[in-house]
Amino acid sequence: MKPLVIGNGAREHALAWKFARSNRISGLFVAPGNAGTASLGENLESLDIEDMEAVVRAANDAGVDMVFIGPEVPLSLGLVDALAESGIPAIGPRAAAARLEASKEESKRFMEAYGIPTASHRTFTHPDELERHIRSADRRLVVKKSGLAAGKGVVESEDVEQLVSAGRAFIREGDSVVVEAHLNGYEVSLFGISDGRNHVLLPPCADYKKAGVGATGPNTGGMGAICPVPWLTPAELARIVSTIVEPTYRGLTDAGLAYRGVLYFGIMVTDDGPMLLEYNVRFGDPEAQVVLPLLESDFGNLCDAVLHDAIGEFPVRVSTASALGVVVAAPGYPSSYPRGLVVEPLPQPHEQDALVFHAATTLAPDGTITTGGGRCFTAVGLGEEFLTARNNAYTAAKSISFPGSWFRPDIGGRLFG
Ligand code: AMP
Ligand code: GLY
Repeated sequence: MKPLVIGNGAREHALAWKFARSNRISGLFVAPGNAGTASLGENLESLDIEDMEAVVRAANDAGVDMVFIGPEVPLSLGLVDALAESGIPAIGPRAAAARLEASKEESKRFMEAYGIPTASHRTFTHPDELERHIRSADRRLVVKKSGLAAGKGVVESEDVEQLVSAGRAFIREGDSVVVEAHLNGYEVSLFGISDGRNHVLLPPCADYKKAGVGATGPNTGGMGAICPVPWLTPAELARIVSTIVEPTYRGLTDAGLAYRGVLYFGIMVTDDGPMLLEYNVRFGDPEAQVVLPLLESDFGNLCDAVLHDAIGEFPVRVSTASALGVVVAAPGYPSSYPRGLVVEPLPQPHEQDALVFHAATTLAPDGTITTGGGRCFTAVGLGEEFLTARNNAYTAAKSISFPGSWFRPDIGGRLFG
């Protein structure tokens, strides 16, 4: 098996690392990849992953027999459709199903159609109507840009003025805006992998989305993650499965949207039961970095089962250990940040204790690694005990250093964020 992983983040480094450990792999490509993936396979550095024709050509030239797509943008642009036309199997939805992530308006419609619990909401395309609705509400609201926004399209402020101005700005950009009830509870990210008929679930994760300690400050793409989630009870998980996961997969089949790939359920567990915040049609980042190391099944075999309609019979084996990921970010992130910062030599922990996944890093011919993004590394600690995983993660995170590097010191704390 010769896979091509699409993306350059820490999620894609974790995917490449998982493929590299598979007994099935005879070659591995990552496009565009990063300094971390360079040691696992061949980076197709100059490939523009938003140019569908170029990706199909590169996949053909490299002779890959499977493409695993990490990020949402190529999926929403129809990469899976383009690959299918060329007869190249891919793990990910076609553009039509990628709308579940690319349009919050459409995904809310899907949730309504299939009775999936979610926050009550309304969609607006007219700024004055939106403003009237927000100002007349007698409860706290959340404003969401409908389209893709790289984690920056949700405003949860208690300040009505901020909600109004954010909503107006989204409409000015030409997008519709979903306004929904603010929910209290804690968040869980759950990943299903489907072959289009059956699915399996991976252990639940939690993502720490806010930039600041104690879940304060602006939203980010995710500053850390844990897997599994110690405070999610088996009864709560069972309720998520019966009220959200199963109706979703039935709905996908009914709507003709079932696909081979990963479906991410972003859930808020509230006092009134679990509510679905959003779907993503791919692995989460940083959740992939904590869930993949705990997957004991051969990842090549798992992908093969997905592509051959055999996931229903696939024995998913998961470690009993815990994983905790700490994102090491560039100064200024999630606002503007410098790129090209020189990274000190990275820690080399034992793989059973910790892993260091790169995001958008570059490797110079002399071996120097430089940063290229806002979230630059994920340090993942592993351990049979949750606290051991946490210690291992922070030991690694502390020894990842570049000018202005920072991380949240409270990943694993009970506060969601
Ligand atoms: P989404 O992209 O819809 O998952 O929203 C991003 C983040 O905003 C979520 O992970 C939550 O932390 C927060 N959020 C979204 N919707 C709500 C809501 N209705 N109530 C409270 N927080 C929310
Ligand atoms: N960690 C959230 C996401 O990947 O969307």
